[in-house]
Amino acid sequence: MSAQPLPAANPAPRGVETPDHDPDLCGTEGSIYLADPQALAGRASHPLIAGTRVHLLTFGCQMNVYDSEMVAGLLGERGAAFVADPAQADLILLNTCSVRAHAEDRVHGRLGALKVRKRHEPGLLVAVMGCMAQKEGEHIAARYPFVDLIVGTRQLHQFAQLLERVREGAPTPLLAIDETPSVQFGETVARRESPHQAFIAVTRGCNKRCTYCVVPYTRGPEVSRPVDEVVAEAGRLAADGVKEITLLGQTIDTYGYDLGTNLWTLLERLHPIAGLERIRFITSHPEECRDELWRAMHALGDKVMPFVHMPAQSGSDAVLRRMARGYTKARYLEVIASARKLCPGIELASDWIVGFSGESDADFEASFELMAELKPQMSYIFKYSVREGTPAQRLPDDVPEEAKKIRHRRLLDLQEEISLEQNRASVGRVEQVLVEGLSKNDPTRLTGRTRTRRLVHFPGTADLAGSLVDVKIVSATGLSLLGERC
Ligand code: 5AD
Ligand code: SF4
Repeated sequence: MSAQPLPAANPAPRGVETPDHDPDLCGTEGSIYLADPQALAGRASHPLIAGTRVHLLTFGCQMNVYDSEMVAGLLGERGAAFVADPAQADLILLNTCSVRAHAEDRVHGRLGALKVRKRHEPGLLVAVMGCMAQKEGEHIAARYPFVDLIVGTRQLHQFAQLLERVREGAPTPLLAIDETPSVQFGETVARRESPHQAFIAVTRGCNKRCTYCVVPYTRGPEVSRPVDEVVAEAGRLAADGVKEITLLGQTIDTYGYDLGTNLWTLLERLHPIAGLERIRFITSHPEECRDELWRAMHALGDKVMPFVHMPAQSGSDAVLRRMARGYTKARYLEVIASARKLCPGIELASDWIVGFSGESDADFEASFELMAELKPQMSYIFKYSVREGTPAQRLPDDVPEEAKKIRHRRLLDLQEEISLEQNRASVGRVEQVLVEGLSKNDPTRLTGRTRTRRLVHFPGTADLAGSLVDVKIVSATGLSLLGERC
């Protein structure tokens, strides 16, 4: 059974909104409240799940958002409803992130609070899924024995059956953290926050071993999904009203190598799908991007958006070597130059880590200079956080917190300057905008994104949500553009 499209006039509220300038969402959180309980009435073929009121809270990256939306799809198909207010829920479901200590600390905070609630409300179900569940499920079970269900990154497709087992009286905490290689959600359609935009995971896991990163250990080795399967999922989403898909992979450029195919072939196959207007993909690895990709993006440019998220992480070759990133600053610049030459108009986002082990003042200045030279459209800037079990855990975390803070601030300020300059340069231009819906701060305005993901606000009414419109840019700030419909 496929999920019902969400009514555009009734966009799903989120408990906590994700900041626009942090599409990596790392360390952020958002709650999903997607299904309309009325629409689900009478669809109850799974009595152990039907009618369950779920509060689903997602921490971490887009892959986690996708997983949450798919699990919401599985539960929704079985008659669960989703509630924005955790106090109304029968099941609190936390989808967790391990990429930095901060994200984990917040989950521990939530679990601590739930322990108190569960004392007064023993019927409440608590489930933990995702990266922390995979990495330290047993520890969570021991420290929070009131948790009912713990599901790792590779068992998510079985979430509904596992929940049924809990409801049938299986001993808790029920732990499902096997290392099976892949996740198959079958034909489930995601219950999305947005009716018009959707993620599709095209690879799972990561074969890189960047020394600071926990992902290869929480998500395992990289496995690609067959082209036909991705095309079928995109077709189901388009039929469900989706206009924009974003393909997800930790290193999206290696998509398909295990299957004898590649990302540009997938883009060619997705391009003809009726109803789809925009195709995006993240995240690119500088060492894996091929010129064929830039050429394909240009050739398919009416639907494949000219935007690439390619983290540099650092501008210092010594730091890049210690991070085991596999490229130098010069090589990174070469890759970007090819992209800009072969796909004119392409814009770039990057990630940066400040304060990695041994990062000297001069190393940091090299990152600062690289950002100034690159002029990314946006950047996600992180202070290094030691992760247990990673190779870098053996290196000293020797940059003082205060220095990390100052370096973080300096890159943020530089990015803001670059964004402001670029946004100002677009005043007077006409931009194609995919309308996302009414602005949260001003109901007389619409919010949408340009082809290169710049945020635009302009006067308009909710009936335009989901359509592509031409907007003339009339003014700009560092964060967004203000326009008028042409
Ligand atoms: N500390 C700080 N930032 C990290 N990232 C990944 N691991 C860490 C860590 N241990 C950042 C990288 C990556 C983004 C998703 O998170 O910049 O690109
Ligand atoms: Fe982590 Fe590196 Fe893989 Fe990205 S490419 S998920 S930073 S190991």
